[in-house]
Amino acid sequence: MQIDGKKVLITGAARRIGALVARRLAEKGAVICLHCHRSVIEGETLVEELPGRGHRLLAADLAVPGKAARLWGECGGADILINNASVYARTPADLPEEEARRYFEVNFWSPLALMRCFASPERTSPGVAVNILDAEVLRPAAQNGIYALSRKALADATAAFALEQAPRNLRFAAVAPGPMLPPAGMENSAMSKVLKSVPSGRRTEPEDLVSAILFIIGCDSLTGAVIPVDGGQHLKNHADL
Ligand SMILES: NC(=O)c1ccc[n+]([C@@H]2O[C@H](COP(=O)([O-])OP(=O)(O)OC[C@H]3O[C@@H](n4cnc5c(N)ncnc54)[C@H](OP(=O)(O)O)[C@@H]3O)[C@@H](O)[C@H]2O)c1
Repeated sequence: MQIDGKKVLITGAARRIGALVARRLAEKGAVICLHCHRSVIEGETLVEELPGRGHRLLAADLAVPGKAARLWGECGGADILINNASVYARTPADLPEEEARRYFEVNFWSPLALMRCFASPERTSPGVAVNILDAEVLRPAAQNGIYALSRKALADATAAFALEQAPRNLRFAAVAPGPMLPPAGMENSAMSKVLKSVPSGRRTEPEDLVSAILFIIGCDSLTGAVIPVDGGQHLKNHADL
Protein backbone atom coordinates (compact mmCIF):
# COMPACT_ATOMS: atom_id res chain seq x y z
CA MET A 1 0.00 0.00 0.00
CA GLN A 2 1.24 3.47 -0.82
CA ILE A 3 1.30 5.72 2.25
CA ASP A 4 0.77 9.07 0.53
CA GLY A 5 -2.75 10.35 1.21
CA LYS A 6 -3.72 7.43 3.43
CA LYS A 7 -5.38 7.90 6.79
CA VAL A 8 -3.56 6.34 9.74
CA LEU A 9 -4.83 5.77 13.27
CA ILE A 10 -1.91 5.27 15.64
CA THR A 11 -2.45 4.70 19.35
CA GLY A 12 -0.28 5.98 22.20
CA ALA A 13 1.67 8.18 19.81
CA ALA A 14 2.08 11.53 21.58
CA ARG A 15 5.64 10.69 22.58
CA ARG A 16 8.49 8.15 22.44
CA ILE A 17 8.27 5.40 19.80
CA GLY A 18 4.72 6.12 18.66
CA ALA A 19 5.57 9.77 18.04
CA LEU A 20 8.54 8.76 15.85
CA VAL A 21 6.35 6.40 13.81
CA ALA A 22 3.70 9.12 13.40
CA ARG A 23 6.35 11.59 12.20
CA ARG A 24 7.80 9.18 9.65
CA LEU A 25 4.35 8.31 8.28
CA ALA A 26 3.36 11.98 8.05
CA GLU A 27 6.63 12.69 6.20
CA LYS A 28 5.46 10.13 3.64
CA GLY A 29 2.15 11.95 3.17
CA ALA A 30 -0.11 10.12 5.62
CA VAL A 31 -2.93 11.93 7.41
CA ILE A 32 -2.59 11.03 11.07
CA CYS A 33 -5.25 10.41 13.73
CA LEU A 34 -2.92 10.56 16.68
CA HIS A 35 -4.27 8.92 19.81
CA CYS A 36 -3.01 9.67 23.30
CA HIS A 37 -4.15 9.06 26.84
CA ARG A 38 -2.44 11.35 29.36
CA SER A 39 0.09 13.07 27.08
CA VAL A 40 -2.38 15.57 25.65
CA ILE A 41 0.02 18.54 25.64
CA GLU A 42 2.75 16.54 23.88
CA GLY A 43 0.13 15.26 21.45
CA GLU A 44 -1.13 18.74 20.61
CA THR A 45 2.42 19.94 19.99
CA LEU A 46 3.22 16.95 17.79
CA VAL A 47 0.07 17.33 15.70
CA GLU A 48 1.05 20.97 15.07
CA GLU A 49 4.56 19.95 14.06
CA LEU A 50 3.68 17.08 11.71
CA PRO A 51 4.21 17.88 8.04
CA GLY A 52 1.07 17.94 5.89
CA ARG A 53 -2.53 18.71 6.78
CA GLY A 54 -5.56 17.15 8.40
CA HIS A 55 -3.82 15.56 11.39
CA ARG A 56 -5.92 15.26 14.54
CA LEU A 57 -5.41 14.38 18.19
CA LEU A 58 -7.88 12.04 19.91
CA ALA A 59 -7.62 11.19 23.60
CA ALA A 60 -8.96 7.98 25.14
CA ASP A 61 -8.22 5.75 28.10
CA LEU A 62 -7.86 2.34 26.49
CA ALA A 63 -7.98 0.65 29.89
CA VAL A 64 -11.73 1.31 29.83
CA PRO A 65 -13.82 -1.23 27.91
CA GLY A 66 -15.68 0.33 24.97
CA LYS A 67 -13.30 3.28 24.52
CA ALA A 68 -11.40 1.70 21.63
CA ALA A 69 -14.53 1.33 19.50
CA ARG A 70 -15.49 4.89 20.34
CA LEU A 71 -12.00 6.05 19.34
CA TRP A 72 -12.41 4.30 15.97
CA GLY A 73 -15.74 6.08 15.48
CA GLU A 74 -14.26 9.48 16.36
CA CYS A 75 -11.41 8.86 13.94
CA GLY A 76 -13.92 7.96 11.23
CA GLY A 77 -12.05 4.82 10.16
CA ALA A 78 -8.57 4.47 8.71
CA ASP A 79 -6.64 2.83 5.88
CA ILE A 80 -3.79 1.94 8.23
CA LEU A 81 -4.13 1.03 11.91
CA ILE A 82 -1.09 1.00 14.16
CA ASN A 83 -1.63 -0.45 17.64
CA ASN A 84 1.27 1.02 19.60
CA ALA A 85 -0.18 1.94 23.03
CA SER A 86 0.78 -0.42 25.80
CA VAL A 87 1.42 -0.71 29.51
CA TYR A 88 4.69 -2.36 30.43
CA ALA A 89 6.20 -3.51 33.70
CA ARG A 90 7.88 -6.60 34.96
CA THR A 91 4.75 -8.36 36.11
CA PRO A 92 4.49 -11.71 37.85
CA ALA A 93 1.96 -14.16 36.46
CA ASP A 94 0.07 -13.99 39.77
CA LEU A 95 -0.48 -10.22 39.60
CA PRO A 96 -3.71 -9.24 41.43
CA GLU A 97 -6.62 -9.82 39.08
CA GLU A 98 -7.77 -6.21 38.76
CA GLU A 99 -4.27 -5.11 37.76
CA ALA A 100 -3.87 -8.07 35.40
CA ARG A 101 -7.13 -7.13 33.69
CA ARG A 102 -5.84 -3.59 33.14
CA TYR A 103 -2.81 -4.98 31.29
CA PHE A 104 -5.04 -7.14 29.15
CA GLU A 105 -7.45 -4.26 28.48
CA VAL A 106 -4.74 -1.93 27.14
CA ASN A 107 -2.43 -4.54 25.57
CA PHE A 108 -4.97 -6.98 24.16
CA TRP A 109 -8.69 -6.16 24.31
CA SER A 110 -8.45 -2.55 23.11
CA PRO A 111 -6.12 -3.27 20.15
CA LEU A 112 -8.31 -6.27 19.34
CA ALA A 113 -11.41 -4.05 19.40
CA LEU A 114 -9.68 -1.66 16.98
CA MET A 115 -8.79 -4.59 14.70
CA ARG A 116 -12.45 -5.67 14.76
CA CYS A 117 -13.61 -2.15 13.85
CA PHE A 118 -10.93 -1.99 11.14
CA ALA A 119 -12.27 -5.27 9.66
CA SER A 120 -15.96 -4.46 10.08
CA PRO A 121 -18.25 -6.14 7.52
CA GLU A 122 -19.20 -2.75 6.04
CA ARG A 123 -15.64 -1.99 5.00
CA THR A 124 -14.94 -2.19 1.26
CA SER A 125 -11.46 -0.63 0.94
CA PRO A 126 -8.13 -2.44 1.45
CA GLY A 127 -6.15 -1.82 4.61
CA VAL A 128 -3.22 -2.85 6.73
CA ALA A 129 -3.02 -3.14 10.51
CA VAL A 130 0.33 -3.28 12.29
CA ASN A 131 0.62 -4.32 15.93
CA ILE A 132 3.72 -3.17 17.75
CA LEU A 133 4.47 -6.02 20.14
CA ASP A 134 7.65 -7.13 21.89
CA ALA A 135 10.39 -9.72 21.22
CA GLU A 136 8.95 -11.36 24.31
CA VAL A 137 6.10 -12.79 22.19
CA LEU A 138 8.57 -14.94 20.23
CA ARG A 139 10.48 -16.30 23.20
CA PRO A 140 9.78 -19.81 24.42
CA ALA A 141 9.07 -18.86 28.02
CA ALA A 142 7.36 -15.73 29.22
CA GLN A 143 9.41 -13.96 31.87
CA ASN A 144 7.30 -10.86 32.28
CA GLY A 145 4.18 -12.70 33.39
CA ILE A 146 0.94 -10.91 32.64
CA TYR A 147 2.58 -8.31 30.36
CA ALA A 148 4.06 -11.03 28.14
CA LEU A 149 0.84 -13.02 28.12
CA SER A 150 -1.16 -9.99 27.01
CA ARG A 151 1.29 -9.35 24.13
CA LYS A 152 1.39 -13.03 23.13
CA ALA A 153 -2.41 -13.02 22.92
CA LEU A 154 -2.26 -10.09 20.49
CA ALA A 155 0.40 -11.88 18.43
CA ASP A 156 -1.95 -14.84 18.01
CA ALA A 157 -4.84 -12.52 17.17
CA THR A 158 -2.67 -10.94 14.46
CA ALA A 159 -2.32 -14.30 12.70
CA ALA A 160 -5.98 -15.22 13.20
CA PHE A 161 -7.20 -11.95 11.68
CA ALA A 162 -4.69 -12.21 8.84
CA LEU A 163 -6.01 -15.61 7.85
CA GLU A 164 -9.66 -14.66 8.17
CA GLN A 165 -9.45 -11.28 6.44
CA ALA A 166 -6.97 -12.00 3.63
CA PRO A 167 -9.73 -12.56 1.04
CA ARG A 168 -10.99 -9.02 1.76
CA ASN A 169 -7.58 -7.48 1.06
CA LEU A 170 -7.14 -6.59 4.72
CA ARG A 171 -3.68 -7.36 6.06
CA PHE A 172 -2.56 -7.83 9.66
CA ALA A 173 1.05 -8.08 10.78
CA ALA A 174 3.23 -7.22 13.74
CA VAL A 175 6.69 -6.08 14.70
CA ALA A 176 8.40 -7.49 17.78
CA PRO A 177 11.12 -5.09 18.94
CA GLY A 178 13.84 -5.70 21.48
CA PRO A 179 14.86 -3.06 24.04
CA MET A 180 14.73 0.41 22.46
CA LEU A 181 14.19 2.86 25.33
CA PRO A 182 14.11 2.43 29.11
CA PRO A 183 10.51 2.15 30.32
CA ALA A 184 8.49 5.39 30.54
CA GLY A 185 9.26 7.16 33.80
CA MET A 186 12.69 5.47 34.02
CA GLU A 187 14.25 7.28 31.06
CA ASN A 188 17.61 7.77 32.77
CA SER A 189 18.09 4.15 33.78
CA ALA A 190 20.87 2.13 32.16
CA MET A 191 19.94 -0.58 29.69
CA SER A 192 23.12 -2.61 30.23
CA LYS A 193 21.33 -5.35 32.21
CA VAL A 194 18.56 -5.93 29.69
CA LEU A 195 21.04 -5.82 26.78
CA LYS A 196 22.66 -8.97 28.20
CA SER A 197 19.64 -10.83 26.79
CA VAL A 198 20.31 -9.45 23.28
CA PRO A 199 22.83 -11.48 21.20
CA SER A 200 23.94 -8.37 19.28
CA GLY A 201 24.50 -6.58 22.60
CA ARG A 202 22.89 -3.49 21.13
CA ARG A 203 19.53 -1.82 21.65
CA THR A 204 16.97 -1.88 18.84
CA GLU A 205 17.23 1.40 16.97
CA PRO A 206 13.75 2.99 16.87
CA GLU A 207 14.39 3.91 13.21
CA ASP A 208 14.86 0.18 12.47
CA LEU A 209 11.43 -0.46 13.92
CA VAL A 210 10.05 2.28 11.67
CA SER A 211 11.74 0.61 8.66
CA ALA A 212 10.01 -2.69 9.49
CA ILE A 213 6.64 -0.97 9.82
CA LEU A 214 7.11 0.81 6.47
CA PHE A 215 8.10 -2.53 4.91
CA ILE A 216 4.91 -4.20 6.19
CA ILE A 217 2.76 -1.37 4.88
CA GLY A 218 4.46 -1.36 1.49
CA CYS A 219 4.58 -5.12 0.93
CA ASP A 220 1.11 -6.09 -0.29
CA SER A 221 1.81 -9.83 -0.17
CA LEU A 222 2.80 -9.76 3.49
CA THR A 223 0.22 -10.76 6.06
CA GLY A 224 0.16 -12.71 9.33
CA ALA A 225 3.86 -12.24 10.08
CA VAL A 226 5.35 -11.20 13.40
CA ILE A 227 8.69 -9.68 12.43
CA PRO A 228 11.41 -9.63 15.11
CA VAL A 229 13.45 -6.41 15.13
CA ASP A 230 15.50 -7.20 18.16
CA GLY A 231 19.19 -8.01 17.55
CA GLY A 232 18.31 -11.69 18.01
CA GLN A 233 16.74 -11.36 21.46
CA HIS A 234 13.86 -13.72 20.58
CA LEU A 235 16.39 -16.51 19.96
CA LYS A 236 17.46 -16.61 23.58
CA ASN A 237 15.51 -18.65 26.09
CA HIS A 238 15.03 -16.92 29.44
CA ALA A 239 16.22 -20.10 31.11
CA ASP A 240 19.65 -19.71 29.45
CA LEU A 241 20.29 -16.26 30.89
N1 LIG B 1 10.49 0.91 24.79
C1 LIG B 1 11.02 -0.27 24.48
O1 LIG B 1 12.22 -0.52 24.62
C2 LIG B 1 10.12 -1.35 23.92
C3 LIG B 1 10.61 -2.66 23.83
C4 LIG B 1 9.80 -3.66 23.29
C5 LIG B 1 8.52 -3.33 22.85
N2 LIG B 1 8.08 -2.05 22.95
C6 LIG B 1 6.74 -1.74 22.46
O2 LIG B 1 6.83 -0.68 21.52
C7 LIG B 1 5.69 0.21 21.67
C8 LIG B 1 6.18 1.62 21.95
O3 LIG B 1 7.07 1.58 23.07
P1 LIG B 1 7.15 2.81 24.09
O4 LIG B 1 8.20 2.47 25.05
O5 LIG B 1 7.22 4.10 23.33
O6 LIG B 1 5.72 2.68 24.79
P2 LIG B 1 5.25 3.43 26.14
O7 LIG B 1 5.90 4.75 26.22
O8 LIG B 1 5.42 2.52 27.31
O9 LIG B 1 3.68 3.53 25.89
C9 LIG B 1 3.16 4.15 24.70
C10 LIG B 1 1.93 4.90 25.03
O10 LIG B 1 0.90 4.01 25.50
C11 LIG B 1 -0.08 4.87 26.02
N3 LIG B 1 -0.91 4.24 27.05
C12 LIG B 1 -0.54 3.68 28.21
N4 LIG B 1 -1.65 3.36 28.95
C13 LIG B 1 -2.71 3.74 28.22
C14 LIG B 1 -4.10 3.72 28.42
N5 LIG B 1 -4.65 3.28 29.57
N6 LIG B 1 -4.92 4.19 27.46
C15 LIG B 1 -4.39 4.67 26.30
N7 LIG B 1 -3.09 4.75 26.05
C16 LIG B 1 -2.25 4.29 27.00
C17 LIG B 1 0.63 6.06 26.67
O11 LIG B 1 -0.03 7.23 26.20
P3 LIG B 1 0.00 8.63 27.04
O12 LIG B 1 1.47 8.97 27.17
O13 LIG B 1 -0.76 9.56 26.18
O14 LIG B 1 -0.65 8.37 28.38
C18 LIG B 1 2.06 5.92 26.15
O15 LIG B 1 2.61 7.11 25.68
C19 LIG B 1 4.84 -0.38 22.78
O16 LIG B 1 3.83 -1.21 22.24
C20 LIG B 1 5.82 -1.24 23.57
O17 LIG B 1 5.23 -2.32 24.26
C21 LIG B 1 8.84 -1.06 23.47
